Amino acid sequence: MSPAAPVYDEPYDHPSGARPPQLPRPTIPRHVAVVMDGNGRWANQRGLPRTAGHEAGEAALLDVVAGALQIGVTHLSAYAFSTENWKRSPEEVRFLMGFSRSVLRRQRDTLNAWGVRIVWIGREQRLWSSVIKELKEAEELTRSNTRMTLYMCVNHGGRAEIVDGVREIVAAARAGRVSPRSITESSFRGWLNDPDMPDVDLFLRTSGEQRTSNFLLWEAAYAELVFVPELWPDVDRVVLWRAITEYARRDRRYGGAVDAPQDPAAGS
Ligand code: FPP
Repeated sequence: MSPAAPVYDEPYDHPSGARPPQLPRPTIPRHVAVVMDGNGRWANQRGLPRTAGHEAGEAALLDVVAGALQIGVTHLSAYAFSTENWKRSPEEVRFLMGFSRSVLRRQRDTLNAWGVRIVWIGREQRLWSSVIKELKEAEELTRSNTRMTLYMCVNHGGRAEIVDGVREIVAAARAGRVSPRSITESSFRGWLNDPDMPDVDLFLRTSGEQRTSNFLLWEAAYAELVFVPELWPDVDRVVLWRAITEYARRDRRYGGAVDAPQDPAAGS
């Protein structure tokens, strides 16, 4: 007899009572990556400090996780702090470090009850040890959850991740543990932060910017890009569901060709 499936709490409903759109299961993206952009502008528009925008972004993140669970997304990546974000003012960097730590502390039990496994993606270098500690504790608490994996991308950069993988592979080759001939696209995948992370299907960026900004470069090579105008604190699960509906209409070819259907009325 197979063991009973784990029972998790259902996430809270959207305040409007909105329910996820009914889409055929194969059209739901397995892995959604979100660039949570526009917090600073949201705050500026209200005459508030940039940090108030980040604070307002916490509820948006939780609502998006709830919506991802409701529609059946199994992997969600959130770009919380990039390797380029160290260029911000020392005050903002300090705030973002402390904020990441407190968001994790505040939300980990809820995420755990919903069956979310938290996995940290990013570099240790420069990252505050107290943030690393918090990330590792959240990983440990949620490690056996199977409903969804939430990749917290903190001190992540796509190029940094690839360079770190190259460094490790070169060291392994020098030690005779890897033969350069054996390195392929799929074996290289195993040298990135999480070898089990599936490729990104839907890459969602908020705030109207149309860039990928060094987020999951390798994993998002064939992602469908959806850009929405909402600033991150104004984003909720309804925005996510709209993006998924758009994704469901896309024709993914991965470099292959599909002939246009012949019009029998056109003659030869
Ligand atoms: C970008 O907006 C947003 C960030 C740099 C941080 C977002 C992080 C969170 C909402 C939550 C983090 C949670 C955890 C657990 C790590 P921006 O400042 O670039 O906005 P702007 O383009 O309008 O200036």
